Amino acid sequence: MGKNITWHQSTVTKMDRHTLNGHKSCVLWFTGLSGSGKSTLANAVDHALFMRGIRSYVLDGDNIRHGLNRDLSFRKEDRKENIRRIGEVAKLFVDSGQIISSAFISPYLADRELVRNMFAEGEFIEIYLHCPIEVCESRDPKGLYKKARKGEIAEFTGITSPYEKPDQPEIFIETNKMTIEQSVSDILAYLKERKIL
Ligand code: ADX
Repeated sequence: MGKNITWHQSTVTKMDRHTLNGHKSCVLWFTGLSGSGKSTLANAVDHALFMRGIRSYVLDGDNIRHGLNRDLSFRKEDRKENIRRIGEVAKLFVDSGQIISSAFISPYLADRELVRNMFAEGEFIEIYLHCPIEVCESRDPKGLYKKARKGEIAEFTGITSPYEKPDQPEIFIETNKMTIEQSVSDILAYLKERKIL
């Protein structure tokens, strides 16, 4: 941390923004294998929130890796830095009063815990999208499993790189058993129950 940098307290607080918006802010942290449905579900939740007049936004792995994190690879250390930066960005969005849906594989427990610890209690909602790898592989929306099996992609999650399951996610969804509508409705119900909405 820079020696000559001090934190400037904002005039308008997060609480002020919650009052203006009529809802609280949080991050819905979707984690799971490639092809487990993270981007699909994150966008479906975001759309459902938007239609209800709620301030929301999606942060998506493939998109962020085109810009902010274009300098990072899929090595363990780079994935860690990828997730750390996203955590910081998500924190800014939460501070701005929005509900963030983030869609990153985020395969390492320690990296997800690091992000969880950036947030106040109840602000970080981990959503584990469980889906058997055979199903993800049969979906293969980007043709990446096929390439990974041929040895054309190194360190591919689930094949040549690990995925560490969350022990106690706030929400657990089996995307091969539930419809998108049902999953969205479960997530909205959770937000209402926790008085975020
Ligand atoms: S993470 O592991 O660092 O959290 P992130 O979610 O940002 O990953 O990016 C994952 C996306 O990058 C995948 O959905 C896939 O499209 C693409 N990708 C390219 N190479 C790999 C790889 N080696 N492992 C996993 N995903 C990869």
